[in-house]
Amino acid sequence: MRPPPIKGDQQTSQRDCPRLAVMASGSGSNFEALLQACRSGDPQADLVLLVVNNPDCGAIARAERLGVPWRLVDHRHHASREALDLRLIELFREARIDLVVMAGWMRIVTPVLIQAFPQRLVNIHPSLLPSFRGRDGVAQALNAGVTLAGCTAHLVCEEVDAGPVLVQAAVPVLASDTIASLSRRIQRQEHRILPLAVALALARVGPQG
Ligand code: GRF
Repeated sequence: MRPPPIKGDQQTSQRDCPRLAVMASGSGSNFEALLQACRSGDPQADLVLLVVNNPDCGAIARAERLGVPWRLVDHRHHASREALDLRLIELFREARIDLVVMAGWMRIVTPVLIQAFPQRLVNIHPSLLPSFRGRDGVAQALNAGVTLAGCTAHLVCEEVDAGPVLVQAAVPVLASDTIASLSRRIQRQEHRILPLAVALALARVGPQG
């Protein structure tokens, strides 16, 4: 599939409407939930670009169906994490992005990207941080035997799955839960809190200067 062009500001945005980009590696359900929220007017922002890091990512089909321009930035074609992040910065600057949302981006980002978007990089993580950082937050919660799991939307800092919390939602763990069943209920909450987190992040920083 060939990525469509990223349209200019006049075609896609109302004046002064902050421009969002989403980074995704998976199915893209958070991308779609955030897009629908923006299209409903809350947050007041235009989601103008999706970036994925692998060509088999389900998020691409969602972007095609929903008419959002997307770009593939394949980590396997970049010599280092920093080189990947430099390419991302280039794309975000070209598209005049105000705020970037990592919605299931399964790569560790470097200070190169974080410092290019200070306070303007949001991540969604499937645990109640600071508990259960890292890749398998839901499995870690199940293994620990907690009775409350959940999700966290937070600003990104240089420590992985740390940074100021924007919004959290708690999800009760049921005795019958598997990783799949708990993940599904946590994701439903992610879809609810991510738009709230974006609104809060935008309120803190305003449009990119
Ligand atoms: C989400 O559960 C997020 O917390 C995690 O990756 C998942 C992405 O799901 N980091 P999707 O691609 O938005 O459906």
